[in-house]
Amino acid sequence: MKEYAIGVIPGDGTGSEVMAEAVKALAAITETGGPKFNLTYYDLGGERYLKTGELVPDSVLAELRELDAICLGAIGHPDVRPGILEQGILLKLRFALDLYINLRPVILYPGVYTPLKDKEPDDIDFVVVRENTEGLYAGSGGFLRKGTSDEVAIQESINTRKGVERCIRYAFDYCRKRGKKKKLTLCGKTNVLTYAFDLWERVFYECARDYPDIETDYAHVDAICMWMVKNPEYFDVIVTDNLFGDIITDLGAMIQGGMGVAAGGNINPEGTAMFEPIGGSAPKYTGLNKINPLAAICSAQMMLEHLNEDAAAAKVLNAVKDVSLNYLTSMDAGKMGYGTREVGDLVVKRIKEMAV
Ligand code: IPM
Ligand code: MN
Repeated sequence: MKEYAIGVIPGDGTGSEVMAEAVKALAAITETGGPKFNLTYYDLGGERYLKTGELVPDSVLAELRELDAICLGAIGHPDVRPGILEQGILLKLRFALDLYINLRPVILYPGVYTPLKDKEPDDIDFVVVRENTEGLYAGSGGFLRKGTSDEVAIQESINTRKGVERCIRYAFDYCRKRGKKKKLTLCGKTNVLTYAFDLWERVFYECARDYPDIETDYAHVDAICMWMVKNPEYFDVIVTDNLFGDIITDLGAMIQGGMGVAAGGNINPEGTAMFEPIGGSAPKYTGLNKINPLAAICSAQMMLEHLNEDAAAAKVLNAVKDVSLNYLTSMDAGKMGYGTREVGDLVVKRIKEMAV
């Protein structure tokens, strides 16, 4: 039986509640003839930081590097100043493990409410490939004369040839593997950001020569926002930089039914990868058994895909679709008609009912 070493970082708030349900789904996969997952838990998060001042100790980082994949619940604690945990844990892991792809599917599952009028699951089915280690997230810049009336704040977008090319090539490969519309849209702002997106555009069309089967397309980020609302069926795969990717994927999460279902992967195709529900730690729901675990379960499903466990991934996906269509009254916390654990139980039951 195939075995994987998986790190589990439940994190803060409702993170541990949703992670528990994702772990239940993985256990059901093992029980029904799938691979075995050897889980190691890491208590990174706000509690540990408040107790010890530690964010990601080097020893933990060294262990994480050796894993096949990592599942992350949520990071964010009401008693910790905003930014510390996000930068010290989430961004730290993305950078230190060189997780240079942030893969965010925007898929409307059957029975899930979308605020877009007259749009069906067939219309909302695309994937955003977000560069995850550069751009405005690189931390380049600084202050001059801080705190004075002559203050200057500079924040630079770092775009390296290597960083841009590896992201764009991943997107082309992913688009080919996905095998749907076979259209890759570059999301940029070439009319204003004439250096950064000049590089992106040149690299995009250079790489395109190696993918004659993929249709290429370009749109400015503001137009992309418009079309994601007006005609999301236009998109197949979108590739973009770190900040634009951050912004358009929150819009994406909303049109696919909200944070209760949106999942993402931070991926180093040559190394490890970390999967997470993209919603936050939702402190006000902590311990209430109210938060929707489907996003966390979908993130485990993405992990299975990443590990090339296609049959297992398909089982989880079908179970999630069945549960969203036939059981849940809403994807929102407290309105699902079931509790967090009960939604997890439904997914597990469906996985077990499915033929191997
Ligand atoms: C995300 C989040 C993070 C980001 C924050 C928490 C630093 O919004 O994963 O999209 O901006 O990347
Ligand atoms: Mn974000």
